[in-house]
Amino acid sequence: MASLPYIVGNWKMNGTRASLSEARAIDRGAARLPKVQVAIAPPATLLHRTREAVELIGIGGQDCHAKDSGAFTGDTSAAMLKDAGADFTIVGHSERRTLHGETDADVRAKAEAALGAGLAVILCVGETEGERDAGNAESVVGGQLEGSCPHSDGAVDKLTVAYEPVWAIGTGRVPSVDDVAAMHKAIRAKLVSIYGEAGAGVRILYGGSVKAENASELLSIRDVGGALVGGASLTAESFLAIVGAA
Ligand code: G3P
Repeated sequence: MASLPYIVGNWKMNGTRASLSEARAIDRGAARLPKVQVAIAPPATLLHRTREAVELIGIGGQDCHAKDSGAFTGDTSAAMLKDAGADFTIVGHSERRTLHGETDADVRAKAEAALGAGLAVILCVGETEGERDAGNAESVVGGQLEGSCPHSDGAVDKLTVAYEPVWAIGTGRVPSVDDVAAMHKAIRAKLVSIYGEAGAGVRILYGGSVKAENASELLSIRDVGGALVGGASLTAESFLAIVGAA
């Protein structure tokens, strides 16, 4: 099992060349914190430049198309992400599932394409507030994992799962420690049921309003192997404060 906490910044649709100074500062800061694995997922337009700007941290895409190439205007393939210098890609983020109608089957196809292109995968799952209020959070997340986890040879070794409750993203609201613990335990059990013993080694990140103030508490929860950070990853100062807390 990978042992270092893994802190990943998802820049979403934020960042221009001016943001490369933040990437460089994150890279320098990460070098001073060797007990944490650090990565960022800048917008695709910055991948190549970010690759050239940093030395230590991982670089990833935020999404990929399931096909290698073709008539898919506006899309980016996993092979293109790899060519631009990516080490991994996020797939299945709730903003893709909700705003672009991506199904579990779509997410699985993207994860398989990413693995086929030589990228590691961060696969996002998470329930809406309504689903949690109805007592269905674990079954919803379990269904997402069953439907979207990749199955190709070696997939489990390159897979990270990110649990991001939709209602906690960008809202400043965070589930209780007990709720995070219960969900990560349920995700672990589901991964073991999907992959057998190898599922015990998959890193599970928590995402949703992670800040320096709550990072230590969240990261000390059993089966929380790191964090997927949105807003607080956009500046080196706020992101490195989370990395430091890890
Ligand atoms: O992928 C990270 C994300 O969805 C969480 O965003 O802004 O709540 O940290 P934020």
